[in-house]
Amino acid sequence: MTKHMSPVTQDGTFRSEILNGLTMDRKVISSKWLYDDVGSHLFEAITELDAYYPTRTELSILERYVKQCSRLPGARGALVELGSGSSRKTNLLLDAFPDLSVYMPIDISANHLKDASERVRRAYPSLAVIPVAADFTQPLGKLPLLPELPVLVFFPGSTIGNFEKSEAAELLKNVRIAMPEATMIVGVDRPKDEEILIEAYDDPVGVTAAFNQNLLQRINRELGATFDLASFAHRAIWNAEESRIEMHLESLSAQSVSVGGQEISFRKGETIHTENSHKYSEDAFTGIANQGGWRVLDQDCDGHGWFSVYTLQAL
Ligand code: AVJ
Repeated sequence: MTKHMSPVTQDGTFRSEILNGLTMDRKVISSKWLYDDVGSHLFEAITELDAYYPTRTELSILERYVKQCSRLPGARGALVELGSGSSRKTNLLLDAFPDLSVYMPIDISANHLKDASERVRRAYPSLAVIPVAADFTQPLGKLPLLPELPVLVFFPGSTIGNFEKSEAAELLKNVRIAMPEATMIVGVDRPKDEEILIEAYDDPVGVTAAFNQNLLQRINRELGATFDLASFAHRAIWNAEESRIEMHLESLSAQSVSVGGQEISFRKGETIHTENSHKYSEDAFTGIANQGGWRVLDQDCDGHGWFSVYTLQAL
């Protein structure tokens, strides 16, 4: 097993998904493949950039918002985090809710899960840490221990924005079916000036460009492909109709690339669509939550109105 091969890669899913996407009329690769080890580190670096407002904005909202959340029953039960994300946000909640007895990160990546669990076990020795390796975009089935405890689900980072609207509603529905009594705290990015959005997704330091291009390096590493990084450029586009930032990789010349034994040809200017990051108004997000069977109990946002944190309960 080579260092970069994930279990998902070995069963051929990575290869078949990449080839599928690259042989479509409009070339596309799911953004979930951006997060190998290198990509996860680059994303961490993005969250530290001045240009990338979401992380610090959400943190600033959460800092005051957790005070009113401490009244929620789940704050004395189990904290279930979707994605074993950023330690700063997790710690903020664990510090604010000292009566929690269980921390349950749910993540598809065994590595992320292990890191997060060890980190929390070390810092909060009295908590029972129960990692669950699962793809939370799929039905979750039975979760250990939870029927006995009030549950607070935490879904920060506007990760919900990476899905199509119907998929986002479906994901929320899966969570509700698995944890019908839970209260859910969700971080959601909002529409704003196009210049601010473009800066955040095409930062002057070039970290986001490296994050996007790492996808091609990953395909080279894991599938022995021949992408020449210098002939694909990072593009961040605001799609106003869909209310989303799109990341693309644009071919700077007409060229052919060998991927997993297949020749893939690119026209000059043709792109691979690598990520969507939807920005939802309160109305738009409320609609998606309702479709997933949740009602909005409460909402808070920062002074600029750039980012929202919602509290949801089953309808
Ligand atoms: C972690 C998926 C929410 O969409 O803002 C950051 C990913 N992509 N810069 C986002 C991302 C480019 C991020 N999410």
